[in-house]
Amino acid sequence: MEEEEKTPELGVAPEATGTVAQRRGLGPRPQEVTTPVATPAAPRKPLVSRRVFVLGGFWSALGLALLGIFGPQLDFLYPRKVRGFGGPVPVSKENIPEPGGEPVRIFEGRFWLVHLQPGITPNGEETQGGVLALWWKCPHLGCTVPWRPDFSFLGRKGWFRCPCHGSTYTREGGVLVFGPAPRSLDTFPIEVREDGSIVVLTGPDKAKLGGKDNPSRAVRLPGVQYG
Ligand code: FES
Repeated sequence: MEEEEKTPELGVAPEATGTVAQRRGLGPRPQEVTTPVATPAAPRKPLVSRRVFVLGGFWSALGLALLGIFGPQLDFLYPRKVRGFGGPVPVSKENIPEPGGEPVRIFEGRFWLVHLQPGITPNGEETQGGVLALWWKCPHLGCTVPWRPDFSFLGRKGWFRCPCHGSTYTREGGVLVFGPAPRSLDTFPIEVREDGSIVVLTGPDKAKLGGKDNPSRAVRLPGVQYG
């Protein structure tokens, strides 16, 4: 015989007051009301791990420190193409004076270019003729020696004359004839190219000490009529 359905009593839990079938689990269970629970978002994985970040910082700092220590030395040793004084200075055919002509100033190489006629100079030196590169640095105390076309001395016009202490040098080779300078103007080696231009090897390490033999150092150019 089925038990009668009871009316829930006051103060008694509803599940304790269902039908007998319900309490025995035979009947339909009362529906449970579930409240949706928010699931926390999974933490985002960093693009770079802490280990990689620390190691990267360490190697970068080490690299910068090494660059700071050895960079200047490496920069100094890096070979560069030296231009101007201290390296080869080309002089085009058009800038080479005629034999016996006025000296030409080659500013880039800090020298005077003279072109000698063959024979004996007014000062008594012998030359086969040719071009000569005279370093314009005075051998006395280093002043720049200008060409003075109007300066008269020893009955001749046109000399290289130092403005500092008056050392005077011939136009035919920069030979010292007067003043406190210890020697004549120094000369630079000259290489001749096939097209008639020249290259002057400049720099203190290339200079040959000046002497009375300066005119004999002149280099003849191909295609030029001498004498
Ligand atoms: S520096 Fe040229 S004569 Fe003294």
